[in-house]
Amino acid sequence: MSDNIFWHQTHITKTDRQKKHGHKSAVFWFTGLSGSGKSTLANQLEKELFALNYSTYLLDGDNIRHGLNKDLHFSNADRVENIRRIGEVSKLFVDAGIVVLSAFVSPFEADRNIVRSLFSDSEFYEIYVECPVEECEKRDPKGLYKKAREGKIKEFTGIQSPYEIPENPDLLINTQQNNLEQCTELLKNFIQEKLKD
Ligand code: ADX
Repeated sequence: MSDNIFWHQTHITKTDRQKKHGHKSAVFWFTGLSGSGKSTLANQLEKELFALNYSTYLLDGDNIRHGLNKDLHFSNADRVENIRRIGEVSKLFVDAGIVVLSAFVSPFEADRNIVRSLFSDSEFYEIYVECPVEECEKRDPKGLYKKAREGKIKEFTGIQSPYEIPENPDLLINTQQNNLEQCTELLKNFIQEKLKD
């Protein structure tokens, strides 16, 4: 960053914006293998929170890679940059007073921790969406595991590229043992509790 860039203090603060929305803002960061259920869960959850009058926004790996991050692929360096940008975008949304649901594979612990370091303790929650790779491969909703096995996709997470299991997630949700309704209920209670004053 240039030495000639200065931070401008705004008249309207994060607290003002949170008051207007009627709740605190924070990031709920879903991490897990492709096919583990991150997007499905985050999507269902957003629908329910929205109906309860929360101001929400869902940031989803596949969608963000259609626009803001369409210049990035799946090398380690690109994944690092993908998560760095989403961390910064999440920070803007939290500053805007919004409840952010972020669904990214985010396979590297160090990158997830960098995102965490952008926030205070009450603004960032890591949710590990746990599902064995064998089960994800069985589900294979986009046919990507099949392609990875056939060598048509290189560096696929869980096959040729590693996924580092979160060491200290704020919440672990197992989508093999619980159905969508059960997982959503658990998450909704967790999130509402964290957003209380
Ligand atoms: S991340 O690793 O950089 O965090 P991100 O969440 O943005 O990944 O994107 C993952 C999505 O892209 C997956 O849900 C999957 O549909 C698709 N995808 C395509 N290629 C890969 C790959 N090599 N590894 C993982 N996901 C991939």
